[in-house]
Amino acid sequence: MSVTVIVGTQWGDEGKGKITDYLAERSEVVVRYQGGNNAGHTVEKDGVQYKLHLIPSGILYPDKICVIGNGVVVDPSALLKEIEDLKAKGVEVKEDNLKISDRAHVVFPYHIKEDELEEKGKGDEDLGTTKKGIGPCYRDKTERIGIRMCDLMNAEVFREKLKKNLERKNKIFKDIYGEEGFDFEQIFETYREYAERLRPYVTDTSVLLYNLAKEGKKILFEGAQGTLLDLDFGTYPYVTASHPVAGGATIGAGIGPTMIDNVIGVVKAYTTRVGKGPFPTELKDEIGDFLREKGYEYGTTTGRPRRCGWIDIVMLRYAVRVSGITSLALTKLDTLTGLEKIKICTGYKINGKIIEDFPASLEELKMCEPIYEEMEGWSENIQDVRSFEDLPLNAKKYVKRLEELVGVEFSIISVGPEREETIVLRNF
Ligand code: GDP
Ligand code: IMO
Ligand code: MG
Repeated sequence: MSVTVIVGTQWGDEGKGKITDYLAERSEVVVRYQGGNNAGHTVEKDGVQYKLHLIPSGILYPDKICVIGNGVVVDPSALLKEIEDLKAKGVEVKEDNLKISDRAHVVFPYHIKEDELEEKGKGDEDLGTTKKGIGPCYRDKTERIGIRMCDLMNAEVFREKLKKNLERKNKIFKDIYGEEGFDFEQIFETYREYAERLRPYVTDTSVLLYNLAKEGKKILFEGAQGTLLDLDFGTYPYVTASHPVAGGATIGAGIGPTMIDNVIGVVKAYTTRVGKGPFPTELKDEIGDFLREKGYEYGTTTGRPRRCGWIDIVMLRYAVRVSGITSLALTKLDTLTGLEKIKICTGYKINGKIIEDFPASLEELKMCEPIYEEMEGWSENIQDVRSFEDLPLNAKKYVKRLEELVGVEFSIISVGPEREETIVLRNF
C-alpha cells in the first residue's frame, strides 16, 4: 500500500474516521481532500472519543503528517478550536505534523449566514445542510470571488478581497433578506489574528505530497461525506458541494490520478442518512429505531438523529464503479447483533421493471421499490472477535453474501468503535 484513498460509499458517517485512524498506523501521511467542518469523524482510542471535523484522522499518531488539501474549505475559528481541543486532550498538533494548503478556500461568517438564510428561504424544500457555510464557500470558489489561505496570509490582498466581497454580500443580506450585514473592520481584525495563528501550518501541500510520494512514503487520503452526497454523483440537489468520490482526491490535493494505488470504500453494515432527500431502504419502524439506538446514530457535527435503513447493493455497486474501489471496509457489523432477520436490498423496481444502476433522476429514485433478500441474524456479541472464522455463522454468511453481490472483497471488518475492535482480512 503506497497511496490509498478512503471513500464513503453511502451518505456519509460510514466510519471513515475509524478506518482512517486504523490504517494511519501503517501510513506516514494522512490527507483530507474535500469538505469542511460539515464532516464529523469519530475516532476512539483507549476509551477516549475524538471528534474530528477538519483535521485528518491520523492526528492521534504524533509521527504522522496530516494535510488539509486545497479542496477543503477551512473555517479558521473551527480549525483553531479543534487544534485547542486536541491539545487539551494531550494530542500533539504542531507545524511539523499539520499542514494546510495555501490554496484552500476560507469560510467566513457571511457564508454561514447565507447557508442559514438560504435554507430558511427554501421552507419545506430545504436540504437539511449542516449550516456551516460549506455550500456558499464553494459557490464563491466557483464564482471566482473566494478568499484563499494564501490571500489571508497577505494583509493587503486580504483587505481588498474582503472589502469587495462584503460590499456585495451586505447588499444581498439587506436587499433580499432585510437582514443586517457584517462589519468590515471586525471580520478583518478577527481574521488577521487567525491568519497569524495559522501561518506556521500553511504551505504548498501539492508540492509537499509530490515530494513525499517520490520518497516512497505511504499516503492515505481520507474522504469526507460519501458517494451519495457527491455534487455530481449524489442524490442531487440533496448533496454537499464537493467531491467525496476518489477522483476528488486528485483535484482536492493536487496529485495525479496515476499516483493512486488503492481505493478503499467504507460501508456501514446498514445505511444511514442525515439531512433530507430520498432514501429507498429507509426504515421508519422499530427496526430503524433499533439501529439508531444500538448504533448511536446521531450526527457527530449537528447531533441530529440519523435516518436508518437496510444495506443497499445498488448503491454500493454504484460507489464501486464511480470511485474504482479496490476493496471494502465493513463497519458496525456489531450493531446488527440481536436482529432476528436482516435484509439486503439487491435491486430496485419501478413499475414492475428492475433497475440495476443507480438512477440520476430523483423522481425515478423516489419511485424505486427495493427488492429484498432476507438473511438470518445472530445474537452473539461480536465486539471481541478478531478473526473472520470466529464470527457467528450467520454473520459470516451475511458478509460473504454482500461480497458476492457487490463483487468486491472486504479487506477490513469493524466490530466496534475502538481501534483494536477490527478484523483484518488482508494485509496492507
Ligand atoms: P465518519 O463520518 O464516516 O467518520 O463516521 P462518524 O464518525 O460520523 O460515525 C461513525 C460512528 O460509528 C462513530 O461514532 C464511530 O465511533 C462509530 N463506529 C465506527 N466503527 C464502528 C463499529 O464497527 N462498531 C460500532 N459500534 N461503532 C463504530
Ligand atoms: P462525514 O464526513 C453525513 C449532509 C448534510 C446535508 C447535506 C448538505 O461525517 O461523513 P452541507 O452542510 O454539506 O452543505 O449539507 O450533506 N452532510 C453529511 N451527512 N456525514 C457528513 O460528513 C456530512 N456532511 C454533510 O446533512 O444533508
Ligand atoms: Mg461523520
